[in-house]
Amino acid sequence: MFSHGAFPDVRPRRLRTTAAMRRMTAEHRVHPADLVLPAFVREGIAEPAPISSMPGVVQHTLDSLRRAAAEAADAGVAGIMLFGVPEVKDAVGTAATDPGGILQVALRAVREEVGDALVVMSDLCLDETTDHGHCGLLDERGRVDNDATLARYAEMAVVQAEAGAHVLGPSGMMDGQIGHVRRALDAAGHEDVALLAYTAKYTSAFYGPFREAVESGLTGDRMTYQQDPANGREALRELSQDLAEGADMVMVKPGLPYLDVLRRVADAVAVPVAAYQISGEYAMVEAAAEKGWIERERAIDETLVCFKRAGADVILTYWAVEAARRAAAR
Ligand code: PBG
Repeated sequence: MFSHGAFPDVRPRRLRTTAAMRRMTAEHRVHPADLVLPAFVREGIAEPAPISSMPGVVQHTLDSLRRAAAEAADAGVAGIMLFGVPEVKDAVGTAATDPGGILQVALRAVREEVGDALVVMSDLCLDETTDHGHCGLLDERGRVDNDATLARYAEMAVVQAEAGAHVLGPSGMMDGQIGHVRRALDAAGHEDVALLAYTAKYTSAFYGPFREAVESGLTGDRMTYQQDPANGREALRELSQDLAEGADMVMVKPGLPYLDVLRRVADAVAVPVAAYQISGEYAMVEAAAEKGWIERERAIDETLVCFKRAGADVILTYWAVEAARRAAAR
């Protein structure tokens, strides 16, 4: 027996003795209502198409997307975030503002399927619809033109709201995007549509598998608009701007490598905070598990509770449905 002199032994292990004890004393737990499922829908395919770098994730057809949304609602998942992959991409991302564009068609289909049972969200960005793969319009010198892009985002916001999105997620990291989109929505009578701001979105190598998922045409990188991974304090500058412009919720992305940023943001705000566990994070766990190097389910659940511990209220994860089922059983 060890001793601290006059004091009784302090033994934190007493609270770890049984599963029931650990369950009672857990500071954080993941609830299905914390989870949002990102989902891809591709125009013009007859069968769901597997994404090789994201085993278990597919590009959906409209039918399989409906089924996935219904399944997510059934599992108690909070929401779904839709990404559309159009058949034809061009310099200005025409498909993004076409009411018949795949994302808008998918929004209508999902709302028809689940109504208000899920929070239906859409990615508000041009990279899925542009042939050059950038998140905005390019100027004559090939630079991403901030203010010309804002005008496109404003149009996108209105068509996405009209297609039935409850929440829009502007993810392009243009300066002023939240305010610009908010004004456009309000002017069109969509005061009720909420904005989930990608407040601190870092330029990341871990987006790799997503680029396959949306068949991105990107060559080069997004370093002139997404944040530098070296910067933490800068996230607070983005944060104050997004809040001033009317963000209803804020997000940090990627997830695990940026938990310090998540904590700083969570400590600074009174709005809900989301974290996005991105494609490369998913791929790493799946690949290591496939090799038998880690225990898949334990690793997944550990990553998710770590987001909660770091201050996330909402977690976007490709594992949302299976994690919700396990969380409900705990
Ligand atoms: C941009 C967008 C990206 C992701 C979500 N929205 C890619 C990027 O910024 O390059 C990445 C999501 C993931 O990797 O899971 N529309």
